Amino acid sequence: MDAIEIEGGKPLAGEVTVSGSKNATLPQIAAALLSAGRSTFHSAPDLADIRTMGRLLQNMGARVSFERGTLEVDATELGNPEAPYELVKTMRAAVLVLGPLVARCGRARVSLPGGCAIGARPIDQHLKGLQALGARIELAHGYVEAIADAGRLRGGRILFDLPTVTGTENLMMAGTLADGETVLENCAREPEVVALAVALQSMGARIEGAGTPVIRIHGVTSLRPLDLEVIPDRIEAGTLLAAAVITGGDVLVRRARKDDLEAALAKLREAGATITEEGDGLRCKAPPRPKAVDFITAPFPGFPTDLQAQLMACLSVGEGASRVVETVFENRFMHVQELSRMGADIAIDGHTAVVRGVPRLSGAPVMATDLRASASLVLAGLRAEGTTTVHRVYHLDRGYEGLEKKLSSLGARIRRVKGASA
Ligand code: UD1
Repeated sequence: MDAIEIEGGKPLAGEVTVSGSKNATLPQIAAALLSAGRSTFHSAPDLADIRTMGRLLQNMGARVSFERGTLEVDATELGNPEAPYELVKTMRAAVLVLGPLVARCGRARVSLPGGCAIGARPIDQHLKGLQALGARIELAHGYVEAIADAGRLRGGRILFDLPTVTGTENLMMAGTLADGETVLENCAREPEVVALAVALQSMGARIEGAGTPVIRIHGVTSLRPLDLEVIPDRIEAGTLLAAAVITGGDVLVRRARKDDLEAALAKLREAGATITEEGDGLRCKAPPRPKAVDFITAPFPGFPTDLQAQLMACLSVGEGASRVVETVFENRFMHVQELSRMGADIAIDGHTAVVRGVPRLSGAPVMATDLRASASLVLAGLRAEGTTTVHRVYHLDRGYEGLEKKLSSLGARIRRVKGASA
């Protein structure tokens, strides 16, 4: 297993460009299942999760190729509308194929998901939604089977118990080919939901309201394939801005979009960073040590849970005590134990972490436990004195395209160690 080795202590400086968004690309690849013909995705990020999604579609009978950032999916033949355990277990977002498959093929069989170990993460809202559109749901042998008895889903009303990102996306895709109108209420409003709606509209779907709590879909009988440019990854952008903050650096993050990052930018500014729009990106100039900041994670437009660990790493060297409340996922403080091994002073009480800033962190061997936790350990390593080795980098590779190369181009002393034990 690869590891990342970092000699910390150097403020980052220079320019870096954000890759295409993982969480926007995954549902859009699933959307390619809604139509016969070849769909094309430009600027798709080369990530383990994207390749897993590609393999998943191949396994169903689609033809998939991925070269130099261009991903092509030809979903004309779908002889096997199934997502097997071996592929789904590494990536929870695989559940996104459920809605499009049952909409296009009238049936789908998908293994119950695995993915990041950050709490129970049920899919009850996805299943409840499909039932409201007339699907029969059966659970057996670790698989979900969804069947539209009439061969086609029918429109319906779905009130989500809580805003779920992939749940909203799954049902929005299912509704596009249903017979009649579908109304989704209490929807997630994340930029990736909006990007998916735009993609589906370009396929001929009739959707209104994406980005608001209520989405209306008028079902159509067929859709065209996709040809789209993937939006930039707001979580990668936020991570790179946080890298500037934790090192007291000065970095221009190209393709970082202000509107996608308002809540995170407000907190980085409160921490003392000066953030300005420059060209197509955001420039972040940070003080030598961040100020303490309290924050609480919440669905968009609130502070993203996917940036919680990274901001917490920054605050671990902040001046004063910060209070961090995680409301989206249970069990999403797994980075705390590893940050503590590097000298951070963090106490957890339920969903709240109190971070008492220390003047310095000290490099140590640490273990990544999930995708965003890995990023926070890399950030801590950039600040720490001495050497930090982050093990189990495969978590990082699920969601960050060449992060060590990007950080190295900003002056970080960072390298990948192939096949390090852990
Ligand atoms: C997506 C993102 C992930 C991000 C998360 C929250 C993708 C591929 N992944 O994950 O990076 O961390 O949004 O912003 O886009 N829930 C239920 N029942 C359900 C579905 C969800 O109780 O059927 C709960 C979850 O346990 C969680 C909350 O709803 O507590 C929000 O989860 P959700 O928005 O569904 O996360 P994902 O879509 O899996």
